[in-house]
Amino acid sequence: MSIAEISDKIKSDFISDKAQVMAEAVPEAVEALRLSYLGKKGKLTAVMEDLRNVSKEDRPAAGKAVNVVRQFIESEIEALKTQAKEWEISAILRQKPIDVTLPVSADVNIGSLHPVTHMRHKLNQVFKQLGFTIYDGPEIDTDFFNFSALNIPDHHPARDMQDTFYLEGSKNLLLRTQTSNIQIHAMLNEKPPLRIIAPGRVFRCDSDMTHTPMFHQIEGFVVDEGITFAHLKGTIDAFLKAIFGSTLATRLRPSFFPFVEPGAEFDVQCGLCHGKGCRTCKNTGWIEIGGCGMIHPNVFENVGYDSSQYSGFAFGFGIDRIAMNRFALPDLRQLFEGDYKFLGNFPVNAEG
Ligand code: DAH
Repeated sequence: MSIAEISDKIKSDFISDKAQVMAEAVPEAVEALRLSYLGKKGKLTAVMEDLRNVSKEDRPAAGKAVNVVRQFIESEIEALKTQAKEWEISAILRQKPIDVTLPVSADVNIGSLHPVTHMRHKLNQVFKQLGFTIYDGPEIDTDFFNFSALNIPDHHPARDMQDTFYLEGSKNLLLRTQTSNIQIHAMLNEKPPLRIIAPGRVFRCDSDMTHTPMFHQIEGFVVDEGITFAHLKGTIDAFLKAIFGSTLATRLRPSFFPFVEPGAEFDVQCGLCHGKGCRTCKNTGWIEIGGCGMIHPNVFENVGYDSSQYSGFAFGFGIDRIAMNRFALPDLRQLFEGDYKFLGNFPVNAEG
Protein backbone atom coordinates (compact mmCIF):
# COMPACT_ATOMS: atom_id res chain seq x y z
CA MET A 1 0.00 0.00 0.00
CA SER A 2 1.21 3.50 -0.74
CA ILE A 3 1.59 6.09 2.02
CA ALA A 4 -1.45 7.97 0.64
CA GLU A 5 -3.56 4.80 0.87
CA ILE A 6 -2.33 4.09 4.40
CA SER A 7 -3.16 7.66 5.40
CA ASP A 8 -6.68 7.27 4.03
CA LYS A 9 -7.09 4.04 5.93
CA ILE A 10 -5.92 5.76 9.14
CA LYS A 11 -8.42 8.54 8.55
CA SER A 12 -11.32 6.13 8.20
CA ASP A 13 -10.13 4.15 11.26
CA PHE A 14 -10.00 7.41 13.20
CA ILE A 15 -13.56 8.27 12.15
CA SER A 16 -14.91 5.02 13.47
CA ASP A 17 -12.80 5.21 16.68
CA LYS A 18 -14.08 8.73 17.20
CA ALA A 19 -17.69 7.53 16.83
CA GLN A 20 -16.94 5.00 19.58
CA VAL A 21 -15.50 7.72 21.87
CA MET A 22 -18.56 9.90 21.26
CA ALA A 23 -20.81 7.02 22.17
CA GLU A 24 -18.91 6.34 25.41
CA ALA A 25 -18.89 10.06 26.34
CA VAL A 26 -16.02 9.55 28.82
CA PRO A 27 -13.56 12.49 29.00
CA GLU A 28 -10.46 10.26 29.43
CA ALA A 29 -11.21 8.43 26.16
CA VAL A 30 -10.40 11.61 24.21
CA GLU A 31 -6.81 11.67 25.45
CA ALA A 32 -6.47 7.94 24.77
CA LEU A 33 -7.69 8.48 21.21
CA ARG A 34 -5.22 11.34 20.71
CA LEU A 35 -2.33 9.20 21.93
CA SER A 36 -3.25 6.26 19.75
CA TYR A 37 -3.01 8.42 16.60
CA LEU A 38 -0.71 11.35 17.37
CA GLY A 39 1.30 10.05 20.38
CA LYS A 40 4.91 8.82 20.10
CA LYS A 41 3.72 5.34 19.25
CA GLY A 42 0.60 6.54 17.47
CA LYS A 43 -0.52 5.16 14.13
CA LEU A 44 -0.03 8.39 12.23
CA THR A 45 3.34 9.07 13.85
CA ALA A 46 4.54 5.71 12.56
CA VAL A 47 3.47 6.60 9.03
CA MET A 48 5.28 9.92 9.25
CA GLU A 49 8.43 8.09 10.22
CA ASP A 50 7.96 5.79 7.20
CA LEU A 51 8.19 8.85 4.94
CA ARG A 52 11.97 8.56 5.25
CA ASN A 53 11.86 5.34 3.23
CA VAL A 54 9.88 6.82 0.37
CA SER A 55 11.75 7.77 -2.79
CA LYS A 56 12.64 11.44 -3.24
CA GLU A 57 10.21 11.91 -6.15
CA ASP A 58 7.23 10.40 -4.31
CA ARG A 59 8.00 12.03 -0.93
CA PRO A 60 6.30 15.46 -1.47
CA ALA A 61 2.97 13.91 -2.52
CA ALA A 62 3.15 11.29 0.26
CA GLY A 63 4.05 13.97 2.84
CA LYS A 64 1.16 16.08 1.73
CA ALA A 65 -1.28 13.17 2.04
CA VAL A 66 -0.11 12.39 5.61
CA ASN A 67 -0.26 16.07 6.56
CA VAL A 68 -3.84 16.48 5.39
CA VAL A 69 -4.86 13.55 7.59
CA ARG A 70 -2.79 14.83 10.51
CA GLN A 71 -4.49 18.26 10.35
CA PHE A 72 -7.87 16.58 10.12
CA ILE A 73 -7.20 14.44 13.22
CA GLU A 74 -5.74 17.35 15.18
CA SER A 75 -8.76 19.57 14.59
CA GLU A 76 -11.13 16.70 15.41
CA ILE A 77 -9.24 16.11 18.69
CA GLU A 78 -9.49 19.81 19.58
CA ALA A 79 -13.27 19.72 19.09
CA LEU A 80 -13.44 16.55 21.18
CA LYS A 81 -11.54 18.24 24.01
CA THR A 82 -14.21 20.95 24.23
CA GLN A 83 -16.81 18.23 24.18
CA ALA A 84 -14.94 16.40 26.96
CA LYS A 85 -15.28 19.42 29.26
CA GLU A 86 -19.04 19.26 28.87
CA TRP A 87 -19.02 15.52 29.62
CA GLU A 88 -17.00 16.27 32.72
CA ILE A 89 -19.55 18.81 33.95
CA SER A 90 -22.51 16.54 33.26
CA ALA A 91 -20.70 13.68 35.00
CA ILE A 92 -20.31 15.86 38.11
CA LEU A 93 -23.93 16.94 37.91
CA ARG A 94 -25.05 13.31 37.59
CA GLN A 95 -23.00 12.27 40.61
CA LYS A 96 -23.97 15.08 43.02
CA PRO A 97 -27.22 16.78 42.15
CA ILE A 98 -27.14 20.35 43.55
CA ASP A 99 -29.68 20.99 46.26
CA VAL A 100 -30.48 24.67 45.75
CA THR A 101 -32.45 24.74 48.99
CA LEU A 102 -29.32 24.15 51.11
CA PRO A 103 -28.03 27.15 53.12
CA VAL A 104 -24.92 28.88 51.77
CA SER A 105 -21.73 27.38 53.17
CA ALA A 106 -20.46 29.18 56.30
CA ASP A 107 -17.02 29.97 54.89
CA VAL A 108 -18.39 32.33 52.22
CA ASN A 109 -17.08 35.86 52.80
CA ILE A 110 -20.20 37.92 53.42
CA GLY A 111 -18.41 41.27 53.69
CA SER A 112 -19.20 44.00 56.14
CA LEU A 113 -21.08 47.26 56.31
CA HIS A 114 -19.21 50.41 55.41
CA PRO A 115 -18.43 52.22 58.70
CA VAL A 116 -20.49 55.24 57.60
CA THR A 117 -23.47 53.03 56.69
CA HIS A 118 -23.13 51.27 60.00
CA MET A 119 -23.13 54.59 61.87
CA ARG A 120 -26.07 55.92 59.85
CA HIS A 121 -28.13 52.82 60.69
CA LYS A 122 -27.28 53.24 64.33
CA LEU A 123 -28.19 56.94 64.38
CA ASN A 124 -31.45 56.28 62.50
CA GLN A 125 -32.32 53.70 65.11
CA VAL A 126 -31.60 56.07 68.02
CA PHE A 127 -33.72 58.83 66.49
CA LYS A 128 -36.55 56.43 65.65
CA GLN A 129 -36.67 55.54 69.31
CA LEU A 130 -37.00 59.26 70.08
CA GLY A 131 -40.05 59.38 67.77
CA PHE A 132 -38.44 60.86 64.65
CA THR A 133 -39.32 59.77 61.11
CA ILE A 134 -36.84 59.68 58.23
CA TYR A 135 -37.22 62.11 55.34
CA ASP A 136 -35.28 62.35 52.09
CA GLY A 137 -34.46 65.28 49.83
CA PRO A 138 -32.56 66.02 46.59
CA GLU A 139 -28.75 66.16 46.36
CA ILE A 140 -29.01 68.52 43.38
CA ASP A 141 -31.06 71.47 44.51
CA THR A 142 -31.69 75.15 43.88
CA ASP A 143 -30.23 78.16 45.62
CA PHE A 144 -33.63 78.73 47.25
CA PHE A 145 -33.71 75.42 49.19
CA ASN A 146 -30.01 75.28 50.05
CA PHE A 147 -29.53 78.95 50.92
CA SER A 148 -32.09 81.72 50.62
CA ALA A 149 -35.08 79.97 52.23
CA LEU A 150 -32.73 79.12 55.10
CA ASN A 151 -32.14 82.81 55.72
CA ILE A 152 -28.66 82.69 54.21
CA PRO A 153 -28.33 86.08 52.51
CA ASP A 154 -26.77 86.68 49.11
CA HIS A 155 -23.43 87.86 50.42
CA HIS A 156 -22.97 84.97 52.89
CA PRO A 157 -19.51 83.33 52.56
CA ALA A 158 -21.10 79.84 52.39
CA ARG A 159 -22.28 80.70 48.90
CA ASP A 160 -18.76 81.38 47.74
CA MET A 161 -17.81 79.42 44.61
CA GLN A 162 -14.92 77.93 46.58
CA ASP A 163 -17.31 76.07 48.87
CA THR A 164 -20.27 75.31 46.66
CA PHE A 165 -20.28 73.12 43.57
CA TYR A 166 -22.61 74.76 41.08
CA LEU A 167 -23.83 72.77 38.08
CA GLU A 168 -22.05 73.79 34.92
CA GLY A 169 -23.48 76.94 33.41
CA SER A 170 -25.92 77.51 36.28
CA LYS A 171 -25.99 80.03 39.09
CA ASN A 172 -29.08 78.45 40.56
CA LEU A 173 -28.56 74.66 40.46
CA LEU A 174 -26.00 73.28 42.91
CA LEU A 175 -24.93 70.19 44.82
CA ARG A 176 -26.37 70.77 48.26
CA THR A 177 -23.78 71.89 50.80
CA GLN A 178 -25.90 70.81 53.78
CA THR A 179 -28.85 68.54 54.55
CA SER A 180 -30.62 71.64 55.96
CA ASN A 181 -32.26 71.96 52.49
CA ILE A 182 -34.53 69.10 53.59
CA GLN A 183 -36.02 71.35 56.29
CA ILE A 184 -37.47 73.52 53.53
CA HIS A 185 -38.69 70.60 51.37
CA ALA A 186 -40.36 68.96 54.36
CA MET A 187 -41.96 72.13 55.69
CA LEU A 188 -43.33 73.08 52.26
CA ASN A 189 -44.77 69.58 51.79
CA GLU A 190 -46.05 68.77 55.28
CA LYS A 191 -48.05 70.48 58.00
CA PRO A 192 -46.83 70.60 61.63
CA PRO A 193 -46.31 68.74 63.90
CA LEU A 194 -43.02 67.53 62.39
CA ARG A 195 -40.35 65.39 63.99
CA ILE A 196 -37.93 64.53 61.22
CA ILE A 197 -34.38 63.38 60.64
CA ALA A 198 -32.83 63.48 57.20
CA PRO A 199 -29.56 61.64 56.56
CA GLY A 200 -27.80 62.29 53.26
CA ARG A 201 -24.75 63.16 51.22
CA VAL A 202 -23.53 66.75 50.98
CA PHE A 203 -20.82 68.34 48.84
CA ARG A 204 -18.24 71.05 49.42
CA CYS A 205 -15.12 72.01 47.54
CA ASP A 206 -12.72 70.97 50.28
CA SER A 207 -10.17 68.17 50.84
CA ASP A 208 -7.65 67.41 53.61
CA MET A 209 -7.21 64.96 56.54
CA THR A 210 -10.55 65.96 58.05
CA HIS A 211 -12.51 67.14 54.99
CA THR A 212 -13.66 65.33 51.85
CA PRO A 213 -15.57 66.91 48.92
CA MET A 214 -18.48 64.54 49.63
CA PHE A 215 -19.52 63.70 53.16
CA HIS A 216 -22.61 62.65 55.10
CA GLN A 217 -24.79 64.66 57.42
CA ILE A 218 -27.92 64.15 59.42
CA GLU A 219 -30.36 67.00 59.75
CA GLY A 220 -32.98 66.89 62.49
CA PHE A 221 -35.87 69.21 63.19
CA VAL A 222 -39.01 69.41 65.25
CA VAL A 223 -41.87 71.83 64.70
CA ASP A 224 -44.96 72.05 66.89
CA GLU A 225 -46.77 74.36 69.26
CA GLY A 226 -44.82 75.02 72.44
CA ILE A 227 -41.41 73.64 71.39
CA THR A 228 -38.64 75.17 73.52
CA PHE A 229 -34.88 75.21 73.81
CA ALA A 230 -35.23 72.65 76.62
CA HIS A 231 -36.63 70.13 74.09
CA LEU A 232 -33.62 70.78 71.88
CA LYS A 233 -31.15 70.32 74.73
CA GLY A 234 -32.87 67.13 75.90
CA THR A 235 -32.85 65.64 72.39
CA ILE A 236 -29.16 66.44 71.79
CA ASP A 237 -28.18 65.02 75.17
CA ALA A 238 -30.21 61.84 74.63
CA PHE A 239 -28.79 61.05 71.21
CA LEU A 240 -25.18 61.85 72.15
CA LYS A 241 -25.41 59.59 75.20
CA ALA A 242 -26.95 56.79 73.09
CA ILE A 243 -24.06 56.95 70.63
CA PHE A 244 -21.06 57.82 72.79
CA GLY A 245 -22.07 56.33 76.14
CA SER A 246 -24.23 57.48 79.01
CA THR A 247 -21.33 58.41 81.31
CA LEU A 248 -20.05 61.20 79.05
CA ALA A 249 -21.17 64.78 79.58
CA THR A 250 -22.63 66.87 76.73
CA ARG A 251 -22.77 70.65 76.32
CA LEU A 252 -24.10 73.45 74.12
CA ARG A 253 -22.03 76.51 73.27
CA PRO A 254 -23.52 79.70 71.84
CA SER A 255 -22.87 79.99 68.11
CA PHE A 256 -24.34 81.46 64.94
CA PHE A 257 -26.14 79.87 62.02
CA PRO A 258 -28.41 82.10 59.88
CA PHE A 259 -31.38 79.70 60.03
CA VAL A 260 -31.60 79.46 63.82
CA GLU A 261 -31.95 81.96 66.66
CA PRO A 262 -30.55 81.43 69.21
CA GLY A 263 -27.91 79.13 67.72
CA ALA A 264 -25.46 76.78 69.40
CA GLU A 265 -22.85 74.14 68.75
CA PHE A 266 -22.95 70.89 70.66
CA ASP A 267 -20.07 68.83 72.01
CA VAL A 268 -19.60 65.52 73.78
CA GLN A 269 -16.95 64.90 76.41
CA CYS A 270 -13.89 63.14 74.96
CA GLY A 271 -14.31 59.40 75.53
CA LEU A 272 -10.55 58.76 75.49
CA CYS A 273 -9.53 61.09 78.33
CA HIS A 274 -12.94 61.64 79.95
CA GLY A 275 -12.50 65.39 79.76
CA LYS A 276 -8.93 65.58 81.04
CA GLY A 277 -7.52 66.60 77.65
CA CYS A 278 -5.61 64.50 75.09
CA ARG A 279 -4.46 64.60 71.48
CA THR A 280 -7.80 63.46 70.08
CA CYS A 281 -9.70 66.35 71.70
CA LYS A 282 -6.79 68.77 71.16
CA ASN A 283 -6.53 69.11 74.95
CA THR A 284 -9.98 70.65 75.26
CA GLY A 285 -11.66 67.62 76.83
CA TRP A 286 -14.51 67.94 74.29
CA ILE A 287 -15.31 66.67 70.81
CA GLU A 288 -17.29 69.04 68.59
CA ILE A 289 -20.21 67.29 66.93
CA GLY A 290 -22.58 69.75 65.22
CA GLY A 291 -24.76 72.84 65.17
CA CYS A 292 -28.29 73.49 66.38
CA GLY A 293 -30.76 76.13 67.48
CA MET A 294 -34.35 77.35 67.46
CA ILE A 295 -35.70 77.66 63.90
CA HIS A 296 -35.54 81.31 62.79
CA PRO A 297 -38.91 83.07 62.25
CA ASN A 298 -37.70 84.08 58.77
CA VAL A 299 -37.42 80.39 57.84
CA PHE A 300 -40.99 79.81 59.01
CA GLU A 301 -42.12 82.80 56.98
CA ASN A 302 -40.37 81.45 53.85
CA VAL A 303 -42.38 78.19 54.06
CA GLY A 304 -45.66 79.81 55.10
CA TYR A 305 -45.70 78.61 58.74
CA ASP A 306 -47.12 81.02 61.35
CA SER A 307 -44.29 81.67 63.80
CA SER A 308 -46.68 83.09 66.38
CA GLN A 309 -48.35 79.67 66.53
CA TYR A 310 -45.43 77.30 65.94
CA SER A 311 -41.89 77.05 67.20
CA GLY A 312 -39.23 74.48 66.48
CA PHE A 313 -35.64 73.44 66.79
CA ALA A 314 -33.13 72.10 64.27
CA PHE A 315 -29.74 70.45 64.42
CA GLY A 316 -27.19 69.06 61.97
CA PHE A 317 -23.95 67.10 62.16
CA GLY A 318 -21.57 64.95 60.15
CA ILE A 319 -22.01 61.16 60.28
CA ASP A 320 -18.47 60.52 59.01
CA ARG A 321 -16.87 62.49 61.84
CA ILE A 322 -18.74 60.37 64.35
CA ALA A 323 -17.70 57.17 62.56
CA MET A 324 -14.12 58.46 62.55
CA ASN A 325 -14.26 59.05 66.27
CA ARG A 326 -16.00 55.76 67.17
CA PHE A 327 -13.63 53.69 64.98
CA ALA A 328 -10.53 55.80 65.85
CA LEU A 329 -9.65 56.56 62.21
CA PRO A 330 -6.79 59.02 61.62
CA ASP A 331 -7.81 60.20 58.15
CA LEU A 332 -11.38 60.88 56.99
CA ARG A 333 -10.40 60.31 53.35
CA GLN A 334 -9.80 56.60 54.06
CA LEU A 335 -13.56 56.18 54.24
CA PHE A 336 -14.08 57.07 50.59
CA GLU A 337 -11.11 55.54 48.80
CA GLY A 338 -12.88 52.22 48.25
CA ASP A 339 -9.94 50.22 49.64
CA TYR A 340 -11.47 46.82 50.31
CA LYS A 341 -8.67 45.79 52.69
CA PHE A 342 -9.36 48.79 54.89
CA LEU A 343 -13.16 48.57 54.68
CA GLY A 344 -13.08 44.81 55.33
CA ASN A 345 -11.72 45.51 58.83
CA PHE A 346 -15.12 46.47 60.12
CA PRO A 347 -17.22 43.56 61.27
CA VAL A 348 -20.86 43.50 60.20
CA ASN A 349 -22.07 44.16 63.70
CA ALA A 350 -19.30 46.52 64.81
CA GLU A 351 -20.49 48.58 67.73
CA GLY A 352 -17.71 51.09 67.43
N1 DAH B 1 -26.15 73.00 58.15
C1 DAH B 1 -25.09 73.28 59.10
C2 DAH B 1 -23.74 72.92 58.46
O1 DAH B 1 -23.70 72.19 57.51
C3 DAH B 1 -25.27 72.48 60.37
C4 DAH B 1 -26.44 72.96 61.17
C5 DAH B 1 -26.24 73.95 62.12
C6 DAH B 1 -27.71 72.44 60.97
C7 DAH B 1 -27.29 74.42 62.89
C8 DAH B 1 -28.78 72.92 61.72
C9 DAH B 1 -28.55 73.89 62.68
O2 DAH B 1 -30.02 72.45 61.57
O3 DAH B 1 -29.58 74.33 63.40
O4 DAH B 1 -22.75 73.35 58.92
